[in-house]
Amino acid sequence: MSAADDAIDERLLAQNMADQKATEWAYTTDERRNLKREVSDAFSRALMAGARRPLEFKGFGAEGIVFCDDRAHAFKVGRGNRSLENEAGWLETASGIPEIAGHVAKFYRYHPNENVIERECVEPFPLLDVFAKIERVMLKHGWTAPESKDDSFVFSARGPVLVDAGFTHHIGDSR
Ligand SMILES: Nc1ncnc2c1ncn2[C@@H]1O[C@H](COP(=O)(O)OP(=O)(O)O)[C@@H](O)[C@H]1O
Ligand SMILES: [Mg+2]
Repeated sequence: MSAADDAIDERLLAQNMADQKATEWAYTTDERRNLKREVSDAFSRALMAGARRPLEFKGFGAEGIVFCDDRAHAFKVGRGNRSLENEAGWLETASGIPEIAGHVAKFYRYHPNENVIERECVEPFPLLDVFAKIERVMLKHGWTAPESKDDSFVFSARGPVLVDAGFTHHIGDSR
């Protein structure tokens, strides 16, 4: 077992692979093996760029493999030999413009030797907490909760709003 194995969330990796190949669900065994190896190498490079263990695997795209550490620093490790310097420059500029800075991951630094961008790790909105609250309150009013699915929420100007309340049951007034 390599040092990176405990950092790679198998489910997240599989989901990410599925998203990358939306039309062709199955990666071949070789592709899976290569990708896992690549993620392990990226893990080492993130550490060389100053990431602090424990690292959490966040996902990958065509250009990078991303981990976060417990200081909420994200490390995007470049894939192949394409430099991430241009993306780093963009983030650095955007981070310094007050009008939009809040909507862009904060830029910390670019590590040219490892081709790694260090930036703010962004956690998703805690939708499950909102869902749990709706469920708790509605149960008191005699209704079961709808299906818990991200796409049942719309991210509106007033925050996440549940729109799909299908598959619920009225279980009577239990107050
Ligand atoms: N700063 C970050 N904080 C949290 N998650 C991130 C961060 N950067 C990237 N990720 C996750 O990693 C994935 C891959 O990163 P991304 O920058 O999109 O790579 P690529 O340029 O290869 O598409 C993203 O889709 C996102 O899920
Ligand atoms: Mg991407």
